[in-house]
Amino acid sequence: MCSIIGYRGKGAAAPVIVSGLKRMEYRGYDSVGVATESGKKINLKKGIGRVAEVNSSAGLDALPGTTGIGHTRWATHGKVTRANAHPHSSNSGSIAIVHNGIIENFEELKSSLSAQGYTFESETDTEVIANLLQKNHDATGSVKEAVVKTVSEIEGHYAFVAMFEDGQLAAARFHEPLILGIGQDDLFLSSDVLGFIEYTDDAVYMKDGSFAMLEDGKFQIFDFDGTDTSYEVTKVSKEFGDAYKGDYAHFTLKEIYEQPETVMRAGEKTTDAIKTAALLIRNTKSIYVTGSGTSYNAALLAKQILSRYAKIKVEPIISSELPFSPDIIEDDSVFVAMSQSGESADVLEAVRIAKQAGCKIISIVNLTSSSLARESDIVIGMNCGPEIGVAATKSFTAQLAVLYKLAEQLGGQTGTDFGGISESMLEMLENPTTIQQIAGKLRNVSDIYVLGRGIHYPIAIEAALKLKELTYIHAEGIAGGELKHGPLALMDSGVYVIIINPDDTTYSDTLTSAREIKTRGAKIIGISNVKSDVYDYWIEIPSTGEESYPILEIVPVQLLSYYAALEKDTDPDYPRNLAKSVTVK
Ligand code: F6R
Repeated sequence: MCSIIGYRGKGAAAPVIVSGLKRMEYRGYDSVGVATESGKKINLKKGIGRVAEVNSSAGLDALPGTTGIGHTRWATHGKVTRANAHPHSSNSGSIAIVHNGIIENFEELKSSLSAQGYTFESETDTEVIANLLQKNHDATGSVKEAVVKTVSEIEGHYAFVAMFEDGQLAAARFHEPLILGIGQDDLFLSSDVLGFIEYTDDAVYMKDGSFAMLEDGKFQIFDFDGTDTSYEVTKVSKEFGDAYKGDYAHFTLKEIYEQPETVMRAGEKTTDAIKTAALLIRNTKSIYVTGSGTSYNAALLAKQILSRYAKIKVEPIISSELPFSPDIIEDDSVFVAMSQSGESADVLEAVRIAKQAGCKIISIVNLTSSSLARESDIVIGMNCGPEIGVAATKSFTAQLAVLYKLAEQLGGQTGTDFGGISESMLEMLENPTTIQQIAGKLRNVSDIYVLGRGIHYPIAIEAALKLKELTYIHAEGIAGGELKHGPLALMDSGVYVIIINPDDTTYSDTLTSAREIKTRGAKIIGISNVKSDVYDYWIEIPSTGEESYPILEIVPVQLLSYYAALEKDTDPDYPRNLAKSVTVK
């Protein structure tokens, strides 16, 4: 998603904004722009590309003034062009605005404004807010009244920061994240605490349906009707300051290598939240687990883990599908929402539907200050620190660790030893040479299949997701037994197949599938603790108890996807067309 940022303080605004945007680039990165106010005049620069590129060509951080706004974009309304990049100005040039989200009635508003003589340079819905604000400001002469009127006219999900030519900042939030940071002499507005964590850890998580006005070291927060509203200043966890690559070439690599530690942290304690969640689950008839993307794949594993170890039946639901089949949800059930960011619009929508059906909400979430956490009855933290690489890695293994913990609290004997898992991960990560060599072979491959059975099938799906996101190679997860029901037709000498095959109850059936595939000429990459002559390439995983394999076996595929991305010259941290934290539907 897009990131928005605002600054008003004593120092130069533009460098603060540019460094905040660099840290939030994971939210969207096709274009970038900054506007500042100096001498009651708005200065604006923007361009297509990553923050560092546009900054070095356009000098974003050299704009003068102590008040400013900035934006990195993930295109929704309109193509990736300079004209569509934010900030956008109102016709008079007296207001500049940055915006994240979607204004659903923008076409209607645009034609009405056009009929009144307003003109538009971009295809975005954002320019409509800029001109509406201008119109309402011209009519009322008051920034506050202009915002109250404007938010009553726009529909959709949004967060925006508007800068007026006298340097006032106004920022509104409705179902998109917006946080106010309070420094010694400065105030910040940002989509994410990473936008200002360098300067302050005092923050106000703005409520939905509220707006803030910032002026000379002070701020006020109002409800959308303009009445003063209460707010709470919270301390942002310091761990979120740790969002730096360190010695690693990419965040994705760093996050893969953090897993021996994060999996321990996520799985080491049976927190009160896990205990309360287990009680609730035990006493409920129907349990649903939802998520999007990787978090949905974790939901598929929730079904396997909770049924196998705790004899609890759960139904996984793709969050974005629930609005089309809301009747799946039985009233007064338990609804478990899994999300790294806690801001995925599809997940939040699914939670709203479940709440309407009277469900209790348990979230398994990394950002415990997120919208999802605030919507939940019980919040179980994943505790894996900031995940900046767009592809989910350490959050997935942390989700699995939490699920094993939950299964244990539900009375299951999982036998999971997180210390042992952590050591096995370290062992695998210590020497990536084989994986790097295999990655070299994938450069010109156009199709990769990943095959697994039972609990390894959701891992195969997650592995395929990693491969497609990071390498842009078509990849697909296959349930081993389904091979003969269709996918075998695709196997030939141009295809690579990854076989997830530790020596548990699925081992011999999966080895048979590998032989069937090999006969058709495809190249086989075996991920197993046992070597076999059927594998053209063998990625060895340590021999552990069967409960540890799902957490372990995804790690080599994350690494393989990472190195194959480097082979293909794609940026593993920022895959094309994607954004972390998809806050629009
Ligand atoms: C995959 C990936 C996405 C996310 C999905 C949900 O690598 O990163 O598929 O898993 O957008 O995000 P969260 O977990 O933040 O709700």
